[in-house]
Amino acid sequence: MASSEVSIAVIGLGYVGMPLAVALAGHYKVSGFDVSEARVNELKDGFDRNREIGEDELRSTSCQFTSDTADISGANVYIVTVPTPVNEEDNTPDLSYVNAASKMIAPLLKKGDIVVYESTVYPGVTEDICGKLLEEESGLACGSDFYLGYSPERINPGDTQHTVRTITKVVAGQTPEITDILAEIYATTNGGNIFKAANIKTAEASKAIENAQSDINVAFINEVTKIVNEMDLSVYDVLDAAATKWNFLKFTPGLVGGHCISVDPYYLAQCAKELGHEPEVILAGRHINDAMGRYFAKRLIAKMGEGKKDVLILGFTFKENINDIRNTKVVDVYNTLKDAGYNVVVHDPHAAPDEVKAHYGIELAADLPEAVQFDALVLAVSHNDYLGMDDAALKGLLKADGLLYDLKGLWRSRDFGNKIQYLTV
Ligand SMILES: NC(=O)c1ccc[n+]([C@@H]2O[C@H](COP(=O)([O-])OP(=O)(O)OC[C@H]3O[C@@H](n4cnc5c(N)ncnc54)[C@H](O)[C@@H]3O)[C@@H](O)[C@H]2O)c1
Repeated sequence: MASSEVSIAVIGLGYVGMPLAVALAGHYKVSGFDVSEARVNELKDGFDRNREIGEDELRSTSCQFTSDTADISGANVYIVTVPTPVNEEDNTPDLSYVNAASKMIAPLLKKGDIVVYESTVYPGVTEDICGKLLEEESGLACGSDFYLGYSPERINPGDTQHTVRTITKVVAGQTPEITDILAEIYATTNGGNIFKAANIKTAEASKAIENAQSDINVAFINEVTKIVNEMDLSVYDVLDAAATKWNFLKFTPGLVGGHCISVDPYYLAQCAKELGHEPEVILAGRHINDAMGRYFAKRLIAKMGEGKKDVLILGFTFKENINDIRNTKVVDVYNTLKDAGYNVVVHDPHAAPDEVKAHYGIELAADLPEAVQFDALVLAVSHNDYLGMDDAALKGLLKADGLLYDLKGLWRSRDFGNKIQYLTV
């Protein structure tokens, strides 16, 4: 396929698909397709609710945003960037979105077309599940009529350094020729920073282990936190000392939420189970990290006792300075405190109150409460807005003998005076 013939359709315009579509549109004819008409209309109006791309760039892109499949039928490279969550009841992979996208693409396929998956999956999904579905629904042969590819996405919401234009892109095609075509296409987005994986399953496996590794490393530090807390030591003091060793990995304790690190290990675990291997370390990491919200809340309750305490939680999103509330573990802190009879107010400057209400049933305070003094403040997310709060602002929200519970350990070198109690994880 000559590069002048390449016509790309990106399927799913979320955190991953939309910046990719815009980056590729600088070099190729690109259509961005999403089933959500609301999302498409917002993008056409120059508004990205995920705040990945600014209005000027959106308005000037040549990418055509659409929710009409007729608009993408002329494409010859389909890139699938739809969600891959887990099923709530048993944490097994929910492949319904990639399956639906594959079924939608199948009738549009022509000889020579390439379908690339970027959604995070486990090894085998692209070829054994999606490829088969595309074959069944199109009547074309996979590997000779049309071809598959896989290219994992590594972007990190809110991270302006590691973006679609800078991150090394791993690519793999069904044949060496397809790998070369994909390498050439993706190279235009990031200055040629491409790694050709050995094959599609290798590329799928590489993505699955990257996030599982992060999860396990944080889980280890979370477990260490629980142990040293029993000895009344500060985990941060322990980490500071340990980190002076040249090869100590600098992970910190905390909540692990979001759409990737708290989800992808379950994809790797599923793959292991299908192969007859019990993924002990992977699931142990998930088990520990999933329980940390409740652990942190119980630590506060142990300090303050049960009953009608007024608590303000600062931050609700799954990480700092973004508006993404998917799989936020702050909700576990909230629910555990509520169960203990506490009055809990949650503030977040970035999360959308209507989304928080719809997904979690929690009324979010969009502004910091005025003229209310709480028994405790819980710093749950290190949004810049909170880091910039001076002592007067914090003390204004807290009773004179109130408790400051710093889940990020960010204020541990500050002196709040001897009346205010200060607690870290
Ligand atoms: N968000 C990240 O930072 C990140 C990083 C690396 C990998 N990933 C992976 O990338 C994939 C996409 O994640 P995301 O964060 O962009 O998700 P997202 O929820 O932000 O966006 C997905 C989009 O796909 C659309 N969609 C759903 N079904 C569709 C269909 N059948 N056809 C067309 N559009 C459809 C949704 O309306 C939504 O706009 C996931 O597999 C995720 O694990 C995400």
